[in-house]
Amino acid sequence: MKRHGTMTVNEDGHLVIGGCDTVDLVKEFGSPLYVMDEDLLRQNCRAFHKAFIEGIPGGEVAYASKAFCCLAMLRLAAQEDLGIDVVSSGELYTALAAGADPSRIDFNGNNKTPDEIRYALENRVGRIIVDNFTEIQLIDEIAGSMGLRPMVLLRVQPGIEAHTHEYIQTGKIDSKFGLSISTGQAMEALHLMHAKEHMELVGIQCHIGSQVFEVESFAQTARIMASFMAYASDNLGFHLPEINLGGGFGVYYREGDTPVTPADFAKAIYEALQEELSRHNHPMPRRISIEPGRAIVGNAGTTLYTVGSIKTIPRVRTYVAIDGGMGDNPRPALYQAKYEMCLANKMTAANQIVASVAGKCCESGDMLLWDASMPWVETGDILAISTTGAYNYSMASNYNRIAKPAVVMVSGGKAHIIVKRETFEDIVRNDLIPEHLLWDHGHQWQKLTLPKGQVPVD
Ligand code: LLP
Repeated sequence: MKRHGTMTVNEDGHLVIGGCDTVDLVKEFGSPLYVMDEDLLRQNCRAFHKAFIEGIPGGEVAYASKAFCCLAMLRLAAQEDLGIDVVSSGELYTALAAGADPSRIDFNGNNKTPDEIRYALENRVGRIIVDNFTEIQLIDEIAGSMGLRPMVLLRVQPGIEAHTHEYIQTGKIDSKFGLSISTGQAMEALHLMHAKEHMELVGIQCHIGSQVFEVESFAQTARIMASFMAYASDNLGFHLPEINLGGGFGVYYREGDTPVTPADFAKAIYEALQEELSRHNHPMPRRISIEPGRAIVGNAGTTLYTVGSIKTIPRVRTYVAIDGGMGDNPRPALYQAKYEMCLANKMTAANQIVASVAGKCCESGDMLLWDASMPWVETGDILAISTTGAYNYSMASNYNRIAKPAVVMVSGGKAHIIVKRETFEDIVRNDLIPEHLLWDHGHQWQKLTLPKGQVPVD
């Protein structure tokens, strides 16, 4: 397993993150446990800040909170002087509660409800990214009723297909997101938005996909967006002043992944915009935004699990089952995502076996890793999977009524819980038993027993 950020190994042969022995972390906080490396989070924020906010005139970085959203994380992003991208009122609520500057919040999403739009406007979010015709109408009406005129950008489809998994491609024409340049719908929408009284059209936005490694994909997107910006400006009769190129910057999950530095992305994007806009005699935008999520939090997260059952099927495979799985990390099941692992309590032991890591959910598809090399593994070992900072906790579920793990943030030998582990009470918190299910046979409390023959079998 590649060592990320502050990862080291101590004299006991234990994995150490942020100066904390991971075996001790599990003893103290239980497992599974998400561990976020605060120093690496800050380092990632700063690399984007330096490249895009300090390095580009008008550059802006909005952390895509969907990747990992909780109060402490959004607080940290705000402390590091990043804006925040939200896609729901829940994310917006978290950002506001974390003290984020509303004027630096972008509100994205393909189906903002009237309540969400009202909530965003009440809280004066900086920009709303309009996704479709329905939204143009809705935002104009609601903003009008509130006497507001929010800044809006249009989400457009540049028609780029980034090299990534199909489900996480969002830039191609046949997609639920945005309006396409090539069908003419994007231009039509811009005319409509410009004509609306209760919105101030300031620019265009796109997002070409996630986990993208090619600088050229972003440069090409910047060129297409710039050329459309110039075309749209000519058509509208004024220069659109803002452009937003979304997120998607790839991170290292396993050998062969080759992340590009924010500085390289920034340079390629800026040069492509300059080249294309000057060709069209269009001024550079006053604001050039990006929305990285994964690249801020991905490699800063590690999940610690305790090994339970181990089963070897002779001549077939060894299954090593851990105390988490698709509930805390649905990405392998959803996207065939691949990860690296280590045994956090046996860091100096040589790899000896090949085994597959199974989750504990009642589903054959709940496998976190296939055929991984590892040292001799025993029940009770601590198995660590790296690069789980993005889209793990934020996509976690309670499938099989498994409680969501705690998240701790570590730095300088100190660990702070930033999300508490769920309890049994949390699991049933929203459950209600209607009166008529409580009482059986008049007014006598009866313990529910299923008649023989009706016991569900799987
Ligand atoms: N901006 C927009 C408009 C987006 O749709 C997304 C991601 C981002 C920014 C942030 O992208 P990032 O920098 O994190 O790649 N659940 C999937 C990823 C879905 C990404 C959706 N949109 C996964 O686990 O890989």
